[in-house]
Amino acid sequence: MTGGSAERARTAYLHVGNAISRQFAGPWLNNIASLGYVSWTVRAKGANDKKAVLAVVWAAFSGHGRDGDAEVDIVMRTWALAVGPEDLDLVAVDDGAIVGHALGAIGDLEGREALAVAPLCVTPSRQGEGIGSSLMAELLARARVAGWPIVMVLGDPGYYERFGFEPAGPLGIYYCPVGRDDPHFQVCRLATPDLSLRGEFRYCWEGPNGSAST
Ligand SMILES: CC(C)(COP(=O)(O)OP(=O)(O)OC[C@H]1O[C@@H](n2cnc3c(N)ncnc32)[C@H](O)[C@@H]1OP(=O)(O)O)[C@@H](O)C(=O)NCCC(=O)NCCS
Repeated sequence: MTGGSAERARTAYLHVGNAISRQFAGPWLNNIASLGYVSWTVRAKGANDKKAVLAVVWAAFSGHGRDGDAEVDIVMRTWALAVGPEDLDLVAVDDGAIVGHALGAIGDLEGREALAVAPLCVTPSRQGEGIGSSLMAELLARARVAGWPIVMVLGDPGYYERFGFEPAGPLGIYYCPVGRDDPHFQVCRLATPDLSLRGEFRYCWEGPNGSAST
């Protein structure tokens, strides 16, 4: 097989694998990976992964005249506060290298603990392969099993709606830095709607201990 046709075969193979992973990611993902349809796996972050995760976060949020320092700071503050369930701090790993990260952390919704994702990112050279979808699907699946009724995220609705996210405003949940009805602040309902879950959300790093030095 020539280099060109081999590359085309690999690309087709990846497209099929990615389509499958988007459809069945979550509890199915690692089974699919073990069959060879995708080259990465998703697992909880390990103690030795921190440096590599921060490198992915920084690279993913850098470019177009900005750097990823703010997002790195968010991740480090969240780790330092130790408010995120460890099994919701996820990495995508391919051939031993960390290529994506999704961080679920507990914030405050009018005095009640609530789960939010911040941030989700994929290393720039691997974006568009389905890795972000795998991470988010796995995080939502784990959050559902753990009994979280909702998950919140601040991001592009064009990306997150595919996972079941909807604007938070009509549900009475808002995030002050972007305003009450900004469609970028979204909620994914995992359980029967709890109408008492409403009001202002604050990420953990914005809480009373959020300025803790890391
Ligand atoms: C956003 C991000 C996590 C998506 O991960 P990914 O692995 O590249 O995405 P996937 O391969 O799972 O999905 C690709 C799809 O998402 C779409 N997409 C990617 N980024 C998007 C965005 N910012 N807005 C809307 N759609 C987006 C692509 O167009 C593609 O659509 P298609 O399936 O219809 O072709 C990744 O691109 C990234 O790290 N971006 C920089 C950091 C960032 O913006 N993070 C999100 C804010 S928390």
